[in-house]
Amino acid sequence: MEVIIRPTAAEAEKLTARIIADAINAKPEFKLGLATGATMENVYAELSRMNKAGEVDFSQVRSWNLDEYVGLAPEHDQSYRYYMNKNLFNNVNIDIRNTHLPDGLAADEEAEAARYDDSIDEAGGIDLWLVGIGCSGHVGFNDPGTSFSSRTHVAYLTKTTYEQNKIYFTPPESMPRRAYTAGVGTVLDAKKIVQLITGKRKAAIAAAAIEGPMTSMISSSALQLHPDTVVILDAEAAANLKLRDFYDEVFQNDPKWAAYR
Ligand code: GLP
Repeated sequence: MEVIIRPTAAEAEKLTARIIADAINAKPEFKLGLATGATMENVYAELSRMNKAGEVDFSQVRSWNLDEYVGLAPEHDQSYRYYMNKNLFNNVNIDIRNTHLPDGLAADEEAEAARYDDSIDEAGGIDLWLVGIGCSGHVGFNDPGTSFSSRTHVAYLTKTTYEQNKIYFTPPESMPRRAYTAGVGTVLDAKKIVQLITGKRKAAIAAAAIEGPMTSMISSSALQLHPDTVVILDAEAAANLKLRDFYDEVFQNDPKWAAYR
């Protein structure tokens, strides 16, 4: 696991966007895993800007998102399809038919989850999955207790996740209590994982996930198992990390990061 700390959230977001853009430029038929949440909004704004400036081309990119609420139509302003269209897909030259999220309205939930995993497998797997972290330590909606080998499934959300996300709903109680999520195992199958964590409210969970023992009580800690994970944090989110100085030393001196310093 590689850990990069940037002084501000803006710098962490820009670095994340650049790593994604460089990966797409190196392999135009890219299979990109995506996440939602406030953390990602500026990453998508930066990728949109780069696309308009001719710095990254999404024309052959195919994407799969981590999750979607059960029961929400794509037009619902809190659906993750709506979020993705608004924040990224409508602003770049991606073919919307190449963008995938679980169908929140699917009649057969098990079949929909299996179909989602199959569509990733048929495409040859995800090249890079961008993920965030929830305050419960979740990646996607893999709340505490989710198996590290889980595949895409419908999860009943914990109270912490419900409290974190219901503020976006009107009325708050209308937030669905269940959601599709790619499993921890689905995410670990990606060739590369990039995790972005910003803000001081994430400092405690970031330290537990990155430097604590691996446990299904913090699904993000499973990323420690992955051979190519980069975690990018701002200084506030990194405040509780024990090896901060070492991570900084590596970023400043390892030639592989020279272009990003
Ligand atoms: C939701 C999403 C997660 C995301 C989390 C954090 O629960 N399912 O994928 O990482 O929110 O959101 P935020 O970036 O708003 O803190």
